[in-house]
Amino acid sequence: MSKWRFAGLLATAFLTVSTLVGCGDSGSSAGGTSGGGGKKLVVGFVQTGAESNWRVANTKSIQTEAAKHGYELKLATADGKSERQQADARNFIDQRVDVLLLAPIVETGWDEVLKQAKDANVKVVIEDRRPKVSEDLYVTHVGADFKEEGRRAGEWLGKAMNGKGNVAVLEGTTGSAPAIDRNTGFMEVMKSKYPDIKIIMNASGDFERGKGKEVMKAFLSRPEGDQINAVYAHNDEMALGAIQALKERGKKPGKDVLMVSIDGSRPALEAIIAGELNCVVECNPILGPDVFDAIDKIVKGESVPKEIAVKESLFDQTNTNAEMLKERPF
Ligand code: AHR
Repeated sequence: MSKWRFAGLLATAFLTVSTLVGCGDSGSSAGGTSGGGGKKLVVGFVQTGAESNWRVANTKSIQTEAAKHGYELKLATADGKSERQQADARNFIDQRVDVLLLAPIVETGWDEVLKQAKDANVKVVIEDRRPKVSEDLYVTHVGADFKEEGRRAGEWLGKAMNGKGNVAVLEGTTGSAPAIDRNTGFMEVMKSKYPDIKIIMNASGDFERGKGKEVMKAFLSRPEGDQINAVYAHNDEMALGAIQALKERGKKPGKDVLMVSIDGSRPALEAIIAGELNCVVECNPILGPDVFDAIDKIVKGESVPKEIAVKESLFDQTNTNAEMLKERPF
């Protein structure tokens, strides 16, 4: 019998006994114990860093749900450094965590690490960004369809620009799944539906507000800087930085220059209400509930789908108001 099946049977037996004697905890799913002794199963979470509001909310969601479901969470944040992140993952594998939960900074470089996890019988769950690896190296991915987000941003902007004009693109971290896919989805729509819209500048702002502002300043100081009609930012932080740069240059973001971004943070929705940001395609960071529902099943030896998608919407001036800000989780 595999250690997973064994842990699953013990956990099920423990939960049944708890229910029968009426001593379950206060409504948590409590999937994270490995037996009647109550020893917590360990999840090693390899996070990218804390580059954005989105990321901070994502980490918090994982921490909250780990506690609710009764797991011990070990957290490593690599501060945006890819090699460090791989070392963090290997370290958790060497410690024989029960589950390795991974949000890879960039897509590449994960084959050997995840093979090591497989050899060590450590289950791998991917959240948010995907690595470029064969599907047998992880159990499931929980997160958004970044290409679709790019398509939705492209559809909205193409229409708002009446099919013509010049766009500057603030890209996310080079080599990361959201930067690659949000670009691919957006360009798909531009090429097929809006051939008269030109991408006249693009550069990475690393998903950070400060860098987004610097890159936008550099765009504006080029000779063709005054010809930018719209900005497509791969996340809210960079859009908010670009808004500052445009204002410092005497331009009105949202009017002189149309602004579209991705995430849906509270500051971004405030900028929509202020008329400085025109559209935000939502990317939901609250992945903890789906991640730990999946982990509960995995440790019980139950099957889970390879892909667990999250629900997302789109915000613009037609549907965003101050009332909604209170409920925004980040
Ligand atoms: O991987 C998701 C992206 O990473 C979010 O859009 C961004 O804000 C974060 O840093």
